[in-house]
Amino acid sequence: ARVDKGGYKHFMAKEIAEQPQVISEAVGHYFGSSGHEIRLPSDQLDFTGLDRVVLVACGTAYYACLTAKYWIERLAGLPVEVDVASEFRYREPPIGENTLALFVSQSGETADTLAALRYCRDKARRIVAVVNVPESSIARESDVALPILAGTEIGVASTKAFSCQLTVLLTVAMEAARQRGRLSEERQADIVAALRGLPARINLALDFEEVTERVAHELAEARDVLFLGRGQMYPLALEGALKMKEISYIHAEAYASGELKHGPIALIDPNVPVVVMAPRDALFDKTVSNMQEVMARGGKVLLISDRKGIETAGDGIWRSVEMPEVDTLLAPILYAIPAQQLAYHTAVAKGTDVDQPRNLAKSVTVE
Ligand code: G6P
Repeated sequence: ARVDKGGYKHFMAKEIAEQPQVISEAVGHYFGSSGHEIRLPSDQLDFTGLDRVVLVACGTAYYACLTAKYWIERLAGLPVEVDVASEFRYREPPIGENTLALFVSQSGETADTLAALRYCRDKARRIVAVVNVPESSIARESDVALPILAGTEIGVASTKAFSCQLTVLLTVAMEAARQRGRLSEERQADIVAALRGLPARINLALDFEEVTERVAHELAEARDVLFLGRGQMYPLALEGALKMKEISYIHAEAYASGELKHGPIALIDPNVPVVVMAPRDALFDKTVSNMQEVMARGGKVLLISDRKGIETAGDGIWRSVEMPEVDTLLAPILYAIPAQQLAYHTAVAKGTDVDQPRNLAKSVTVE
């Protein structure tokens, strides 16, 4: 079926707005309409006896993998290695029979990711794909293909596919933890309840669009923007920076907040807005002190946090975007919304071609 913009100015805007719906479809698919049983083919997806998981992808899908590393290591206690597909293969990494190799791709046709999959073919215990297109090459060539159910994505800059990839990867992390005896029934039920509540929270976040739109007009004046995050929010900072440069052509860079003092802090001045992604998780206080280092040097901080987080961070913040509270495990999915909106509205303010940014293709089928 032909997909149209459904009244939106751009496909990207429509796809951002679709996230509550597509995530609730993914959650329904992997957890049913009630209860907290994980519906994955556990016989084909055995995490016991593994000694590591290797995650490989490109672009936005790579940042979904980086987030999943935090989840799989934290929840399942299983070492995870993540690489971009174009680097992975040429390193000729040793892949043993106790390795599960997982490839994430919206299109399922990215040449580098497919080549990395083929490299692992007769080496890894299992080849798993997380894809949006079930009849794609990457899906066909894997042992197990898990759909992300995001529906057709037209905007070159990925939005709903990213949040659906995260949702499926969190499900995989939970299953790995369950099989390895590290997820209590109670915690599992809690996470599933939080996932079921996520679409409503995303709707709340979408309601803050006015705020992100206003601040995006100010970001559009910048030549460089920094994104900071710690722990599982670090990959989201990377994704926020990628979105920003892809469609607004503003130079955007992301750093792990704690790494700021080892170099990037030299860039701080009033002309470089610093976007800080900071839900109130275990690292929040540390992020706040990193943020204060920025403000002490005249840096302009845009803080994305919940109300208490924004209050705690205190005076001196340039702008803030308030997120609903959420189980911190799910924060990377929820906080993807303001990251996408900031990039989108900055690009619209600059008048760039949002859905078809220069030099980029939706699916890169050549090496
Ligand atoms: C291209 C797109 C990106 C995408 C990447 C990986 O570079 O412009 O938005 O993240 O490919 O695509 P895939 O289909 O493998 O997820």
